[in-house]
Amino acid sequence: MIEEGDAALLVFGKTSFFVIIERKEFHTHFGKLDLGEVIGKEYGVKVASHSGSEFRVLRPNFIDYIKKMRKMPQIILPKDACQIIAHTGLAPGWNVVEAGAGSAALTIFLATMVCPGRVYSYEVNPKFASVAQKNIEGMGLKNVELKMKDIYEGIDEKDVDLVCLDLAEPERVCSHAWEALLFGGYVFSYSPTIDQTMKFTAEAKKCGFSVKTIECLVREYEDEKGMRPKTVMLGHTGYMTFGRKV
Ligand SMILES: C[S@@+](CC[C@H](N)C(=O)[O-])C[C@H]1O[C@@H](n2cnc3c(N)ncnc32)[C@H](O)[C@@H]1O
Repeated sequence: MIEEGDAALLVFGKTSFFVIIERKEFHTHFGKLDLGEVIGKEYGVKVASHSGSEFRVLRPNFIDYIKKMRKMPQIILPKDACQIIAHTGLAPGWNVVEAGAGSAALTIFLATMVCPGRVYSYEVNPKFASVAQKNIEGMGLKNVELKMKDIYEGIDEKDVDLVCLDLAEPERVCSHAWEALLFGGYVFSYSPTIDQTMKFTAEAKKCGFSVKTIECLVREYEDEKGMRPKTVMLGHTGYMTFGRKV
């Protein structure tokens, strides 16, 4: 049952709005809605705007949440984050170290995937840490520890399954990651430029990691006037390097 304060996704065609249910009006370009109407109803109910557009009220999942939450630095998109599962076997129960937290998009992805395992997320910028903390709390995640700490100085945790890096000089963390990881565990690094990727790869190999690099291009399809690839696509986000401690 939907209660006051619950999150909801209002969907009308291809448009959606992430809202917190309160007894108040919500204005959209399809008309205004009385959010209070859905309190006490089940997710899946429809609510109509004053101009007659009917919105389906859904329970948001964590991908809906990441799309709509407040962002500060550039996030790792779910299409890239899911590669971590494909290339490491990330699973429930894993313990993960991550830096930097940034907007906490990757943190939320990892914490949702590994629960009841834990995510230890390092961040040096207090402003970003505050946004990250709010985003983590907004998702109701209890298995994340956000640490105000420079990961270049070392990793406190031991015997972790995965170390994820999304920062400017990931090569400076290779030896710390090696120390923190279990044998068979992975270090993952996400970098927008090939120069960073090459530096990281060289250092990771020096430490003993078995390394590979990929990128992930997703081509979506139009389905309105005939089915065909969309003319515009997201050409580049980041290179992803995986190093296994073997
Ligand atoms: C691109 S953002 C990370 C975004 C994050 N992966 C996400 O998906 O929301 C990079 C973050 O790394 C942080 N950072 C940079 N150097 C760091 C360090 N040495 N230790 C910890 N965090 C660091 C920055 O402050 C910034 O918030």
